[in-house]
Amino acid sequence: MPFANAGEEQIYYVQQGEQGLPVLFIHGAGGSHLIWWNQVRALAPTAQAVALDLPGHGKSSPGGRDTVLAYSDAVLRFLDARGFDRAVVAGHSMGGAITQMLALTHPDRVAGLALIGTGARLRVLPAILDGILSPVDFDNTVRLIVENAYAPGLDPDLRRRAEEELRACAPAVTHGDYVACNGFDVIARVGEIHAPALVLCGREDKMTPVKYSEFLASRLPNARLVMVEGAGHFVMLEQPGAVNQALVDWLATLSP
Ligand code: COA
Repeated sequence: MPFANAGEEQIYYVQQGEQGLPVLFIHGAGGSHLIWWNQVRALAPTAQAVALDLPGHGKSSPGGRDTVLAYSDAVLRFLDARGFDRAVVAGHSMGGAITQMLALTHPDRVAGLALIGTGARLRVLPAILDGILSPVDFDNTVRLIVENAYAPGLDPDLRRRAEEELRACAPAVTHGDYVACNGFDVIARVGEIHAPALVLCGREDKMTPVKYSEFLASRLPNARLVMVEGAGHFVMLEQPGAVNQALVDWLATLSP
């Protein structure tokens, strides 16, 4: 599977589908491209569906960031490296913050944005922010994040994989991600984003509550709001069918 040479860094990505609009998926704190496997597969027949590993994550070059702006610069370099002048950008949680930042700083590059389980401001619980770096509390913090990130009744296999995924990311990188989230606030600016937006949230999301998505949809001038029942923060893994359908329906409304 391929890497893109983005400046000094190698950014790992997967792509399915060779025709249609590029749709770039960006994961959240401590994550990787793997969270999007359902969506990449579902969009492949109609789009160039791409999911990357942010720097410091997954198989990409080491070196995470601690601001959303710095991550959005890295994503911009990835778009340049792949030759995508414009793309639909879909982001989850911190990935949604990066997506908003990219749409604010480079509106010409963003054909549309899918904001999934995210918000215009992403303050982080101190127990998560501090605990992820502590050798004593790391395991408990991973459990705390997973407990808060899924709707009740989580499939034990999904839970095990969610914990494994978080443990796979270097704690310093995940900490930098949460610092980036905690410092992110575009509440006053989000209305400046005119690109079409899909705002999607699990009804039982505790990490980025429904209120955050309702706020986004009320401020973004061209937004569609979708609430997914029976899902928490990792809505794309918990209810992939509903998320895929919402994405396919919304993408069909965008001009090529
Ligand atoms: N969209 C709309 N409203 C928002 C918002 C957003 N993105 N972010 C915060 N607000 C609102 C809050 O609902 C709150 O409104 P209220 O006063 O009517 O209750 C107000 O702005 C201030 O909230 P916040 O900035 O979050 O500060 P806080 O000191 O009240 O709470 C936390 C801090 C960390 C406890 C809280 O943000 C939280 O529970 N976060 C979710 C858990 C988490 O760590 N998520 C990780 C995200 S990556």
